[in-house]
Amino acid sequence: MAWAVTTPTTSILDPSCGDGVFVELAAERLRELGASAEEVAGLIHAVDLNPKAARLTAETLRGLLGVPFEVRAESFFSLEPPGALFNIQAPVDTVIGNPPYIRYQEFTGVSRGEALARATGAGVTLTRLASSWAHFVAHAVTFIKPTGRLALILPAELVHAAYAAPLRRFLRESFADVTVISFRRAVFPGAQESVTILLASGKGELHQRLGLVEVESSRDLDYLAEVLKRAEVFQNGSEPTKWVPGHTGNRSALCLIRLQQDGLFHPLGQIGKASIGFVSGANEFFVLTPKDAAALRLPKRSLRSALVRARQIPSFEITHRDIAAMQEGDQRCLLWLPRRSLTRAEAAYVKKGEAAGIDKRYKCRVRTPWYTVPGVVVPEAFLTYMSDTVPRLCLNSAGTATANTLLTVRLPHVPVSLRKAFVVAFYNSATMLSCERTGRSYGGGVLKLEPREADQVLVPSVALVRKHRRELLALAPRLHEVLLHGPAVQIGKVLSDVDQVLLVSSDVDAQDLSEERAALAARRQLRASSESLVQEMLAFYG
Ligand SMILES: C[S@@+](CC[C@H](N)C(=O)[O-])C[C@H]1O[C@@H](n2cnc3c(N)ncnc32)[C@H](O)[C@@H]1O
Repeated sequence: MAWAVTTPTTSILDPSCGDGVFVELAAERLRELGASAEEVAGLIHAVDLNPKAARLTAETLRGLLGVPFEVRAESFFSLEPPGALFNIQAPVDTVIGNPPYIRYQEFTGVSRGEALARATGAGVTLTRLASSWAHFVAHAVTFIKPTGRLALILPAELVHAAYAAPLRRFLRESFADVTVISFRRAVFPGAQESVTILLASGKGELHQRLGLVEVESSRDLDYLAEVLKRAEVFQNGSEPTKWVPGHTGNRSALCLIRLQQDGLFHPLGQIGKASIGFVSGANEFFVLTPKDAAALRLPKRSLRSALVRARQIPSFEITHRDIAAMQEGDQRCLLWLPRRSLTRAEAAYVKKGEAAGIDKRYKCRVRTPWYTVPGVVVPEAFLTYMSDTVPRLCLNSAGTATANTLLTVRLPHVPVSLRKAFVVAFYNSATMLSCERTGRSYGGGVLKLEPREADQVLVPSVALVRKHRRELLALAPRLHEVLLHGPAVQIGKVLSDVDQVLLVSSDVDAQDLSEERAALAARRQLRASSESLVQEMLAFYG
């Protein structure tokens, strides 16, 4: 708060004040700086969509100051930017707060339309994948006076999400100085989102500096001046596209760039394409166990082998044998995909589905006929969508399809004779590091790779795989064992074996890559396991 509120005349806006934690601290700070209670009440502006929250904050501030205090109970998006036609509100020196986080899937209807219009009005074009906080930030900036400041707690998506790129650009263009503080440990334990702090100053002045810094936990913020001094600084024009601390400056990041420049590695998208598996809308209805399929007398010609769980991929290759074992174990592994004319048994199954309301489910009711699952492909490989230790690429030697619990990977530019070696080669430290940097760590220790992100992951070139085909295949049995049974620590060892083959004649230091990969994976796990830090969170608000 001391950073955001510097004089007794600093005017402040919290556009989503909630219970008023921030405005209370701002009021205390202004009082400390010498402002009278009446002045404080006039300097602080608070808004919240929720009337209860607005009332609570108003009461708290009235209690604290002993003078009337108003909180606007309305959507921040309904407020015109200051200076708009017929608008009387003045811009403020500082915007503070913690904007609402509504994921794009739930962010719909009028409120989304209004938010999009506000972001566009501010000069930021956001895609439909943007969550609500991004629009909020864009609109909030329009409320700040020239030379003013912005201090917000935001989802970590600010630093890495592709959808936030236009906002990152906008912030740089709007402020002389932008600093982002990231945390190695969860600030809000148990929450799905990790957070960052955005501090921007010098609104309207020429952009000069981007500072990125990472701290262990919110306790480090007690020494904010020290933290800010440690920031990795980028001058105007030299900023990285993602704002992840250490993303471009460190040695391993440079190694990845080098491997790409030397043509040894390139993005997966250059030789293939990742996509989501089929979306049936009701896997329990469409993907059956062999016993159920037999009992329903569904014809063999309508049944295709399909995976529904990431766990069903054994190691780096799935074979007909694995599928046979699944069938023997009566696992859900048969996708019912009927031809146009249904058998009598199939017509009865359709009726059964309708009686159970399956045809009314969202994904089913929007297709004709409702019981034909679209987008069923047999890809060359699968990739785990959510990963714990390492993402897994699995060669599809069984001609099976998959539901959207796994990504499908087409590899049209990898010759059939090299596919197995290519999949083994995937398990190297450079590719795994690239996954850690490209994917998102959503809390819970999970690394998530969306198809678009998977396409950006750096993989060995076909030429490199061809050159080392035999050595790679020789590593296959050990890789299989470790992926199947080995404890997580052994994975690092196998990756090093593959590194030895692929990277030994390159200019890069495989050790750097391997250490950085292990550090990022460990950090992901640490976020998941950090103990309750509620006290820390409270300290942070102070
Ligand atoms: C993350 S909370 C803010 C918490 C607050 N800083 C506190 O400490 O209590 C987000 C707040 O945004 C409010 N909100 C959601 N949509 C809003 C909108 N369109 N305009 C204003 N406030 C909104 C919610 O009611 C909620 O109180």
